[in-house]
Amino acid sequence: MGLMDGKRGLVFGIANDRSYAWWVTRQLLEQGAECCYTYLPFGKMERRVRNAVRELGNDDPWLMECDAGKDEDLDAVFEKYQQDFGKLDFIVHSIAFAEREFLKIGNFHTTTRQAFTQALDISAFTLVAMAQRAQPLMTEGGAIISLSYYGGEKVIPGYNVMGIAKAALEHSTRYLAAELGAKNIRVNSISGGPLKTLAASAVGGIDEMFEHQAKKSPIQRNITGDEVGNTAVYLLSDLSSGVTGEVIHVDGGFNIVGL
Ligand SMILES: NC(=O)c1ccc[n+]([C@@H]2O[C@H](COP(=O)([O-])OP(=O)(O)OC[C@H]3O[C@@H](n4cnc5c(N)ncnc54)[C@H](O)[C@@H]3O)[C@@H](O)[C@H]2O)c1
Repeated sequence: MGLMDGKRGLVFGIANDRSYAWWVTRQLLEQGAECCYTYLPFGKMERRVRNAVRELGNDDPWLMECDAGKDEDLDAVFEKYQQDFGKLDFIVHSIAFAEREFLKIGNFHTTTRQAFTQALDISAFTLVAMAQRAQPLMTEGGAIISLSYYGGEKVIPGYNVMGIAKAALEHSTRYLAAELGAKNIRVNSISGGPLKTLAASAVGGIDEMFEHQAKKSPIQRNITGDEVGNTAVYLLSDLSSGVTGEVIHVDGGFNIVGL
């Protein structure tokens, strides 16, 4: 018997088989969940996501295009999901975007209004946009998670405007949790350690982050995608029925170390 048996939900953020969302999905499927997917409608994304999901044994996935920065795309995804399945049990929000130019070490003070607004919109507001569309479909309660990073709490050189977006994402988690708790909808975030993904490669100084993390973390190594996936199963399953509004660090303890 799986911890996610009988639960079906939407996964936003698989780009390939290195994405955090891919690792999360892998663990969710292993625990019996049914997952529906979206892809960013640019370039070869659809094919990449299909290939990544096929590796997880899902040959004919429920898959829709979705630029989460567009209300009409989000509306279309939630409407189609409702038509096809009715009830929604969970959402995985694993998306973020900031212009690479502003993710260089020393460049935060050069961030333009457009780049700042876009980073906050795609990386933080989209959680609110998804939660408001999910709520009417979560008729028997539900669980929502997002992916954050320690750069939303402390200054990490190169993380820059994405750190501001993560601070907004984490606090949106708390406000959403407070309002949706009465409907038995729980909202939590995972603050994951660095993982080699497409998005991570855009962050200035990422190689130093990996080295530093491995040296300073209590567990003396970088974390794996599976470790975040396991925590996602905990947060999306009934195991965590009493937990909401939390940001859980899956970073090998890096955040507790002062020196
Ligand atoms: N990789 C890390 O080191 C790390 C650490 C902590 C947190 N995170 C977070 O994990 C999440 C997933 O990132 P990842 O590292 O797996 O990288 P990734 O590149 O594999 O995933 C990022 C995803 O965001 C999607 N995306 C970007 N703009 C979008 C838009 N407008 N609409 C819809 N989707 C959009 C991309 O298509 C992609 O699937 C992000 O929130 C990221 O900040 C990553």
